[in-house]
Amino acid sequence: MSMLTRRHLLRRAALSATAVTPAGAALGAVTTAAGATALAGCQPGEDAEPTEPAASSAARLQFPVNFGWGAATSAYQIEGAAKEDGRGESVWDTFSHTPGRIRNGDTGDVAADHYHRYAEDLDLMRDLGLRSYRFSISWPRIQPDGTGAANQRGIDFYRRLVDGLHERGISPMATLFHWDLPQTLQDAGGWESRDVAYRFADYAATVFEALGDRVPVWLTINEPKTVVQNGYLFGHHAPGRQDPDAAYLVAHHLQLAHGLAVQALRAEGGTGRIGPAFNLHPCYPADDSPAAAEATRLYDGYENRLYLDSALKGSYPEDVLADLGPTSRMVRGIRDGDLEIISSPVDVLAVQYYTPIYVTANGGTVRRWPTSEASWQQIYPDGMYDILTRVTRDYGPIPLTVTENGLPTPDVLAADGTVEDTGRVTFLRDHLAAAHRAVTDGVPLESFHVWSLLDNFEWAEGYDQRWGLIYIDYPTQRRVLKRSAHWYRQVIADNAV
Ligand code: FCB
Repeated sequence: MSMLTRRHLLRRAALSATAVTPAGAALGAVTTAAGATALAGCQPGEDAEPTEPAASSAARLQFPVNFGWGAATSAYQIEGAAKEDGRGESVWDTFSHTPGRIRNGDTGDVAADHYHRYAEDLDLMRDLGLRSYRFSISWPRIQPDGTGAANQRGIDFYRRLVDGLHERGISPMATLFHWDLPQTLQDAGGWESRDVAYRFADYAATVFEALGDRVPVWLTINEPKTVVQNGYLFGHHAPGRQDPDAAYLVAHHLQLAHGLAVQALRAEGGTGRIGPAFNLHPCYPADDSPAAAEATRLYDGYENRLYLDSALKGSYPEDVLADLGPTSRMVRGIRDGDLEIISSPVDVLAVQYYTPIYVTANGGTVRRWPTSEASWQQIYPDGMYDILTRVTRDYGPIPLTVTENGLPTPDVLAADGTVEDTGRVTFLRDHLAAAHRAVTDGVPLESFHVWSLLDNFEWAEGYDQRWGLIYIDYPTQRRVLKRSAHWYRQVIADNAV
């Protein structure tokens, strides 16, 4: 792999969702745009000023009947109860307990204590009027060592959760893997080991057997790209590696694991629907040079097509394979039949949208829009429209669900007990308006999940960033509906923004 490619990979990693420097400082590898002139030629909206809140008096945008208004969480980020009821250790337990890895030395040991407070959280979801709740199942609660018989107490927790959702008229959407790989499997090679993909399929089959009759939508692997980039290129996520050659072998094994899990559900005779959950970044050239267009194309290959093409078309993009080179561990690791497994037909595609990427002629990146408190996130609602319409155009009319969209805001619990997160209201309204435009233009979008239901453990940022509709007062674990939660309740009631 050339030095140039390696540098680009690291830049890519710096830009990926949730990538942060260990100290949380501004990302040195990202060049801040000097101004609009430096970026002339960006599309679309190249001459627009940074987004202003849409006028609140604007006509309401009605969503389709039965639209699945939802919110999302993941196990390690909210559950806590790290050592209870037979739960094993995951790579995130190890990583968060390693000094210097997480801001303020935070861990997910307690998090939002959802494991104990799930009934209260279910009631809050009902009060909001949620129709869909996306959560993840903790692999080490089900198989403490990553293999073998199910831990009944782990299964029972998710049964109680899923039954509680049904009792409240909320549809469960379960992610099988949101990054908490059992540490025992990491010790055996982690995702660099092909065998772990098969262990994942066994775990998936165990979960399908236990919960398959009551979960209508399954998502296999959350954001394989973030594991690849943050876990194995940039090293800011577990397991904290910086090894590009390993990273793309991991990408292949994650995709293989996805396909094997899809096959496991079909073998089980499960009636639920299933699909992958990809964080997709629309990539735009930073100027109108042919070189920027070419660099953007390859960038898009690494960010989007690597995952979309393999899962939905049964092939890896040629430009990415050529860039990795025939001697790379990934290219050498692809076996006959793998792509047939990876492209096992799915029922739904989950899209997570947070930020666009602007690519320069030399393969670097620049910022075009203001960022949120997460330095990797440029706020660009039109990117939601672009990525949804692009997926439908390039991959056909597969049903789509947005399973994550949101931002961190500097939320403060005021003396009168309110949290005025007006920035979140503006952000969500603008992104929902963009999603609505995509629906109007024919995108088969069936649901939308705000990230996140609750403030939670934001990986390397610990508890510093607050992404929830619901504020968590961590010392007391009191839940407080933010202004955005009240606003979202009205959106759901009106089926309109
Ligand atoms: C996504 C992750 C999710 C959360 C949001 C902010 O990349 O899937 O767990 O961290 O970013």
